[in-house]
Parts: sequence; structure tokens; C-alpha cells
Amino acid sequence: MFSFSDENDFSGRRCVWVNGPVIVGAGPSGLAVSACLREQGIPFVVIERSDCIASLWKKRTYNRLKLHLPKKFCQLPKLPFPEEYPKYPTKKQFITYLENYAQKFDIKPQFNECVQSAKYDESCHLWRVVTVSTTGSTRSKTEYICQMLVVATGENAEGVVPEIDGLQEFSGEVIHVKDYNSGEKYNGQKVLVVGCGNSGMEISLDLSNHNAKPSIVVRSSVHVLPREIMGKSTFDLAMMLMKWLPLWLVDKLLLILAWFIFGNTQNYGIKRPSLGPLQLKNHHGKTPVLDIGALQKIRSGDITAVPGIKRFNCNSVELVNGETLEIDSVVLATGYRSNVPYWLQENDLFSKNGFPKTPFPNGWKGKHGLYASGFTRRGLAGVSADAIKIAQDIGEVWKEDLKNQKVPAHRRCISTF
Ligand SMILES: Cc1cc2nc3c(=O)[nH]c(=O)nc-3n(C[C@H](O)[C@H](O)[C@H](O)COP(=O)(O)OP(=O)(O)OC[C@H]3O[C@@H](n4cnc5c(N)ncnc54)[C@H](O)[C@@H]3O)c2cc1C
Ligand SMILES: NC(=O)c1ccc[n+]([C@@H]2O[C@H](COP(=O)([O-])OP(=O)(O)OC[C@H]3O[C@@H](n4cnc5c(N)ncnc54)[C@H](OP(=O)(O)O)[C@@H]3O)[C@@H](O)[C@H]2O)c1
Repeated sequence: MFSFSDENDFSGRRCVWVNGPVIVGAGPSGLAVSACLREQGIPFVVIERSDCIASLWKKRTYNRLKLHLPKKFCQLPKLPFPEEYPKYPTKKQFITYLENYAQKFDIKPQFNECVQSAKYDESCHLWRVVTVSTTGSTRSKTEYICQMLVVATGENAEGVVPEIDGLQEFSGEVIHVKDYNSGEKYNGQKVLVVGCGNSGMEISLDLSNHNAKPSIVVRSSVHVLPREIMGKSTFDLAMMLMKWLPLWLVDKLLLILAWFIFGNTQNYGIKRPSLGPLQLKNHHGKTPVLDIGALQKIRSGDITAVPGIKRFNCNSVELVNGETLEIDSVVLATGYRSNVPYWLQENDLFSKNGFPKTPFPNGWKGKHGLYASGFTRRGLAGVSADAIKIAQDIGEVWKEDLKNQKVPAHRRCISTF
């Protein structure tokens, strides 16, 4: 990495030429691509807005979190999980694994720098990536100039806070689930959990375990499957069945098995979508809930499933069925979104929702050396699949450039600085 001093920079920002790709994001995706590049001896720079690697896992997830798929589906390329790790590693174990991963592959991100814009400069065939420092009182800017750009900022970069009538008037605490750590401080409180994805279901369970009285808003429908069926991971079972059977049939089998375990979930307020869980995931990206105990608590009445919200009042919520609930606090488990549209000035690989236009497995590569890593809606398994393909592709371009002894484009345009 070569750095140009301020004197050389007419725009007043620091300019850095990166020999190799710039990777935006030091979560599992950015780390996995970095490791695969390191193995090939290709230099790179990782830019991370936070002050640490894996910031989603370290700073924006609740304490009781465990991986919800068996570890064999969650390990990153080139480093298996330690033998002694359980089948479903805890958040703490996963973070330790990622720390060791970064250390093993000597990955040292540029921390506290948030990418504000990235644009391909047609005149010199290079990417211009502008960052703003996220620490200190003066917000300094840096421009990274590179031939390849890997977007690894995650599907869950920002919490979604919906606009709900009267929410501003509600006098109790309102937080997004990204800021929820544990149910400890909610002891005795009536808590409304908005959203019934994996987050909403699990924190409802956590709240109940901490003697709070949670109600969970189920505004539409959701597939809840047991995390395990007869000691085998439901995900593993589905993968196995999919080798021989069509998706719709695997869906039917999973729903029959779920019915034997849970009964009809509609009886306690949880309607199932008409499309099966795997088909729904494939066509609409909606993840089924892998249950780890919340459903039993809903059945027993410890957690109450309620329909959609009409509006909030000072200390209550009105529901679409006309019922009013008195509540003390609200946790919005209303999902996440990608932040790519806010900074990447490109509309060929990425669509307006910040996900690649082409679905898995083909959404990882764009034009002019642009790559998308970790936007497959397949969790950590998708992260690894992307990283391997991206690093292989970059490796081929890199070798070809070396073979042809191509004059790097930056040398042709650098005189314009
Ligand atoms: C509560 C929760 C539990 C989950 N559990 C599982 C699970 O059990 N199994 C599973 O497979 N998946 C799970 N996931 C999905 C999860 O997103 C992936 O496991 C994984 O974290 C994705 O890695 P990533 O690197 O693509 O994204 P992230 O982990 O989100 O990392 C992206 C990084 O990019 C940084 N960044 C974002 N924008 C910028 C910017 N503009 N400039 C610089 N840096 C930026 C972020 O700070 C972050 O460090 C879970 C998600 C959540 C929210
Ligand atoms: N390891 C684990 O166990 C674990 C734990 C948590 C999360 N995760 C993963 O993290 C990702 C995000 O999960 P998530 O649960 O946070 O988000 P999510 O799956 O996007 O779920 C968001 C939920 O919020 C609801 N919602 C949104 N706006 C609403 C509103 N205005 N009123 C009522 N409900 C509203 C949605 O309902 P609709 O369906 O009606 O839109 C949905 O139920 C997923 O990939 C998930 O698998 C994994």
C-alpha cells in the first residue's frame, strides 16, 4: 500500500493507492475473502467502520446467541472449528474462532473508517473508495484507489426501524434488537417484541426466562421448524433429502414432521405461509425460524403471540384485532437491511435493495473488478462459497496481469493527481 501525502492531494484528502483489492467490511465475509487471498500471496486492504473485526457478532447481537446451524455448515474456508467446540458454537466461541482466523491469516483491517462512497472511474479504469474516519473530533477523509473492490458489508448492516403510528408517543423504552443484550433488566416488565423472525422468537424466550412477560407480534405468517428432529439438525436433514427429492416434497416432509412435534401452530397464533419453508427461502429469501424453545413457551402461555399493531399510545399498544395491551417496553426485532445503496455508486451488480440482482449462486461478480461477498441469504455457508469463488477469480486476474507485465492503470492516471 502506498500513501500519498496531503501535499500531493489537491482535494485535501489523503490518497492511498492499493496494490490489490480493497475489501469493505471485516465481518466473516471480509475475513474469508482476505484469508483466501493471503494464501495466494495477493495483497489487499480491508476497511472496517468499527474498531474491531466481526462487529455484528461482538457489538450487535444478544448474549445467549448460538449458531443455529451445526458448525460444519458455518466454518470459514481453510480453518475448521476446533474439535472441542460443540455442535452449535456459542457467540463467544464463534468470536474466538474469528479472532484466531484473523490472526492466522494476518488480517489487519483499517479500523474506524466508514466507506462513504465508491465509484468506478472510467477515465483511469480504477475504483475510488472514499472513507471517513469514525473516531476523533476531526472527521478526516481518505480516498483509496484500486483495481478491484470487494463489497463485504453484510446483509444485516443496519437495523430496520419501521414507522408505526404513535411510536413517538410511547413513554417506555424502545430499542432495536441489535441493542438488546439480555432479558435481565426486564424482570417483571410487560415487553412487546415486534417481529417473529429468529431474533424476535429467541429474545421472547430470553425475556420469559428472565421473568418478564413478553408478547410477540406476528403480523403475517411464519414457518417455525424445530432446530433438530430426532437428534438430527433439521437443516442437515433437509440438505440430505434435497439430494434425492424435489424441493416441494422436502417442504411437505418437513411440515409433517414439524406438525408431529408442534401440532398446528395456528392454534396458538402462528399462521404458516402457503409456500413451504425451503421454497419461501429460495424465492423470497425469508428464513424459517429454527425453534429452540419459544414455541413451547407460546403454547404454555408464558409468551403471548398477538396480531399486527394498529398504533401505540403513551403506555399501551392497540392491535389490529381491536385489543389493547398495557406495556412497559418495546423491542423491535423488525429485521435488518444492507447499506450498499447508500455508498456504492453502481447499479449493475446490486439492485436498489442492496442485494445482488442475480440470485445465488451467480450474484458474486460484477463488472470492472467488482465483487459481492456474503449477500446470498444463506448465512455463513453462503459466505464461504462466495469467498472461495471471489478469491479464485481475483487470483486468475492477478496472475494474468503479472504474466503480461501489464502497466498498472494507476500509473497511467496518477499524474492527474
Ligand atoms: C442476530 C443474528 C444472528 C445470526 N446468526 C447466524 C447463524 O447462526 N448462522 C448464520 O449462518 N448466520 C447468522 N446470522 C447472519 C450473519 O449476518 C452472518 O452470520 C454473518 O455475520 C455475515 O457476515 P458478513 O461479513 O457478510 O456480514 P457482517 O457480519 O454484518 O459484517 C459486515 C462488516 O462490514 C462493516 N461495514 C458495514 N458497512 C460498512 C461501511 N460502509 N464501511 C466500512 N465497514 C462497513 C460492518 O461494521 C461489519 O463489521 C445472524 C445474524 C444476526 C443479525
Ligand atoms: N443464530 C440464530 O439463531 C439467529 C438468531 C437471530 C437471527 N438470525 C438471523 O439473522 C437474520 C435476521 O433475522 P431477524 O429475525 O432479526 O429479522 P427477519 O428475519 O427479517 O424478521 C423480521 C420480522 O419483523 C417483522 N416485522 C417487520 N416490520 C414489522 C412491523 N412494522 N410490524 C410487525 N412486524 C414487523 C417481520 O414480519 P413480516 O414477515 O410480516 O414482514 C418479521 O417477522 C436472519 O438471517 C436470521 O436467520 C439467526
